[in-house]
Amino acid sequence: MSSDIVLEAIRLERYFRVGRETITVLAGLDLSLARRQRTAIMGASGCGKTTLLHLAAGMDTPSAGSVRLVGQDLNQLSEPDLTHLRARRIGLVFQDFNLIDSLTAAENIRLPLWLNRQREDAEHFASLIDTLAISPLLDRMPSALSGGEKQRIAIARALVHQPDLILADEPTGSLDEATAERVLALFDQVITQSQSALLMVTHNREAASLCDQQLTLRNGLLQPVA
Ligand SMILES: Nc1ncnc2c1ncn2[C@@H]1O[C@H](COP(=O)(O)OP(=O)(O)O)[C@@H](O)[C@H]1O
Ligand SMILES: [Mg+2]
Repeated sequence: MSSDIVLEAIRLERYFRVGRETITVLAGLDLSLARRQRTAIMGASGCGKTTLLHLAAGMDTPSAGSVRLVGQDLNQLSEPDLTHLRARRIGLVFQDFNLIDSLTAAENIRLPLWLNRQREDAEHFASLIDTLAISPLLDRMPSALSGGEKQRIAIARALVHQPDLILADEPTGSLDEATAERVLALFDQVITQSQSALLMVTHNREAASLCDQQLTLRNGLLQPVA
């Protein structure tokens, strides 16, 4: 396999058992993301976009098929190895932000660096704070932040360690248009610096059009946007 591939999903399936029923959310989809490639995923609410991102991040286990991250099959890794690989390689902007309530905004942002015992790149850190305009928020607790402020902190946390794969679940959903544009430009900056790939769920056609490919998730499979 080419070393240029960051993420590969192979015949990925995910179903959920609810009582006697089985809901098929992902029905054997294939996806391959190369370095510097930006992919937008669109699709109706409930079609499985978040499920796909969680599987790509190794936070959920496929019902069948596999996910390979920088050439490693996530199913084959021990729990500590998976945790380590995920922390180092992935930056994930959760749909509901997932900030840690007991940490300040700045501590939340630096969390990936601590987990990875990674040195802070002062220039990169300053650039994130500046672009996201979050300098006045750094000492606040998450409970004292608005939705859009939390989203910007979550974006900084996802980018602080210069991940190989940026997974973003509607990352501009709580932001105004100008801020959303800055966030997309910031993704581009990190992608160029770190040779990362981006997989972004969005309902915003304009944001999607800035990506290299646009895919729709429908009936558990990905297809190019018509
Ligand atoms: N843990 C779970 N148990 C049962 N059903 C689930 C679970 N997680 C997700 N689902 C279902 O899977 C479908 C896809 O959910 P999701 O991936 O969150 O959709 P999207 O992000 O596209 O809105 C939904 O019908 C949802 O109810
Ligand atoms: Mg979702």
